[in-house]
Amino acid sequence: MKAIVVRAPGGLDRLELRDLPDPGQPGPGQIRVALHATSLNFHDLQVARGGIPADDGRVLMADGAGIVEAVGQGVTEFKAGDRVVSGFFPQWLAGSAYDAVGNFRGTPGDGIDGYAAEYAVRAATDFTLAPRGWSHAEAATITTAGLTAWRALVVEGSLKAGDSVLLLGTGGVSIAALQIAKSMGAGAIVTSSSDEKLERARKLGADHVINYRRMPDWAAEVLALTAGRGVDHVVEVGGPGTLGQSIQAVRVGGRIALIGVLTGRKGEVPTAMLMARHARLQGLIVGSRRQQQEYVAALEQTGIRPVIDRSFPLEELADAFRLQEQAGHFGKIVVEW
Ligand SMILES: NC(=O)c1ccc[n+]([C@@H]2O[C@H](COP(=O)([O-])OP(=O)(O)OC[C@H]3O[C@@H](n4cnc5c(N)ncnc54)[C@H](OP(=O)(O)O)[C@@H]3O)[C@@H](O)[C@H]2O)c1
Repeated sequence: MKAIVVRAPGGLDRLELRDLPDPGQPGPGQIRVALHATSLNFHDLQVARGGIPADDGRVLMADGAGIVEAVGQGVTEFKAGDRVVSGFFPQWLAGSAYDAVGNFRGTPGDGIDGYAAEYAVRAATDFTLAPRGWSHAEAATITTAGLTAWRALVVEGSLKAGDSVLLLGTGGVSIAALQIAKSMGAGAIVTSSSDEKLERARKLGADHVINYRRMPDWAAEVLALTAGRGVDHVVEVGGPGTLGQSIQAVRVGGRIALIGVLTGRKGEVPTAMLMARHARLQGLIVGSRRQQQEYVAALEQTGIRPVIDRSFPLEELADAFRLQEQAGHFGKIVVEW
């Protein structure tokens, strides 16, 4: 079967299309999935570039969507023909943050082989059903970006109608979060480096938009837009370069979900301001299988469909990553085969 692997020590010119052995038929508790799509995340880019070191020949990509071809003995949850989507933490089935997995050792496309491949044979619990009527490319956006946005706002944030949400930039997580916020009756402020992307965010329902290049002091603008109160939730994808302003922009008693490292891995935190805000700052990584099932149910009920900016064939995964590196996208970049 065809698969895209990265040769150590990584780099986009070290991605290789290989012919790997077919994984065969499923054993007890397993399913065989004919994969058809994956979606790109910053984490996958880091593995591909070697920023997160992976074993030589690692099959890339955490997100995978496709069709169940066969089920092994004892599998009752799926049948041949079901459309499924992979989970980010196969070993985290359910429970709260207390039960979460704090490393990537079992994460496809990092600690174990991922889904940039034609077939996978895995434990049935490594997948959930995809939303009814979704394309494989749409379903593939759920695994990482979609579920992270859902967990940040709904699971940990207890988002409710009337809340206000601040979203940084217009990448995969932020646009999924915008769609979730609007579908649940919340207000949304979106920042971006591009006026054109801000216009697209408005069309998706953003109530206010801020160009963070033209307005480097964007937190002051968020406070102005909320009559000095600040927002109830921040989906913090920037990290050290943006966290200070996110703390400034959150209301007293608000929540900041710290999920991104786009501007780096460590830096200064205005701790006194965080304290004065009585704000909750929670780090989190994706979510559990149960949370993914709940998110899939929410997607079916709300009718949200993910925003796919561009689709590439499997052979062009490296070019897809180059587009992501240039932040040339709005929402998700996918790869289909
Ligand atoms: N913890 C988790 O579970 C989890 C899960 C998924 C992703 N993440 C992290 O979240 C971050 C975003 O992931 P993604 O997949 O959404 O990435 P992405 O699709 O590549 O999004 C990149 C976008 O972020 C925006 N951006 C970059 N620098 C920014 C800044 N200084 N201020 C505001 N926006 C900025 C840009 O938006 P504009 O072009 O509009 O300016 C850029 O297009 C990454 O650090 C990723 O590792 C974490």
